[in-house]
Amino acid sequence: MSTKRVSTTEPKHISEEKLFIHNLVKRDPRAGLAEDVRRGLTTQPKRFLPKYFYDELGSQLFEAICLLPEYYLTRAENEILQRYADEIVATVAGPTTLIEMGSGSASKTRLLIEALLRKQDELLFMPIDISATALESSSRILLQSYPRLNIEAYAADYFAGLAELAKEQRTHTLALFLGSNISNFDPEEALKFLRALRQVLHEGDALLLGADLKKEKSVLEAAYNDALGVTAAFNLNVLARINRELGGNFDLRAFSHCAVYNQDAGRVEIYIDSNREQTVTIDKLDLQVQFSEGEQIHTENSYKYDLENIGKLAAATGFTRAQTWQDQKQQFSSNLLLAV
Ligand code: TRP
Repeated sequence: MSTKRVSTTEPKHISEEKLFIHNLVKRDPRAGLAEDVRRGLTTQPKRFLPKYFYDELGSQLFEAICLLPEYYLTRAENEILQRYADEIVATVAGPTTLIEMGSGSASKTRLLIEALLRKQDELLFMPIDISATALESSSRILLQSYPRLNIEAYAADYFAGLAELAKEQRTHTLALFLGSNISNFDPEEALKFLRALRQVLHEGDALLLGADLKKEKSVLEAAYNDALGVTAAFNLNVLARINRELGGNFDLRAFSHCAVYNQDAGRVEIYIDSNREQTVTIDKLDLQVQFSEGEQIHTENSYKYDLENIGKLAAATGFTRAQTWQDQKQQFSSNLLLAV
């Protein structure tokens, strides 16, 4: 583990003591990618891990997805937080520390930070995100906006970040898992994740869990296959990343983005389809991969919830679903899970 104090290009009015970034992403970040890509392309059916979407370009493409008219999730959650942030933060008593898993650009987080700063003088914000660059830039912007904020950030995958957080003493905690990030876990992983998160909380602490709700197939499929093709670019960027970092020769035009709602499983399934029979070479893995026409690489699932599912998930992981807020169109849910 390497720990890095950010100081080089900092604007003068942000003192060093206000920002600390622990960088737990392996020293050679490609080591994990290489192993995981090899494994994913040599099993049947072929698959990639969602965390590899979020390199620098991928993180920015995801920010663009959040602005798309079809991707209602971000706007719906924003509407909820705009309206209920004060009510949400009032559920945790006393001085509160704010943790966020998968903070990305942290733009929705601002609403909760502002609500907390209305009820207390100072705030410690502890974001965990796989993208060190996203963390660094979002942290600087937050510190410029809020003089009473301190940030201790972890560039890490969720489980590594949580293991670190478990070692520290904290005041009462409100944890955030927004944007329906929970969607990207299959049911077993969701249980495992919430149990790991519960471990770092104390009784009476809370988790605000964003969860997209089940709805018509056409609305869901449009959200994951927008007309501008931004989601397609986000998905195919994984191939571009393999080309850049592992010396692959994927021809991006010979693959296409595909998103289908599997109603029985309650999830949008996201794939990269091979448009023709082809062979791809990945130099740094010393690997040749065959694709048949129409063969798919599974890149992500996005599970959709109903309130009953969320209650069960909470009950199975040491929480209780104390309260749920929804947007006016009732497309999205923000759930307050209390640690019991
Ligand atoms: N957590 C987001 C979601 O499930 C991630 C996401 C949005 C995504 N669009 C995507 C992942 C397209 C892969 C492909 O809604």
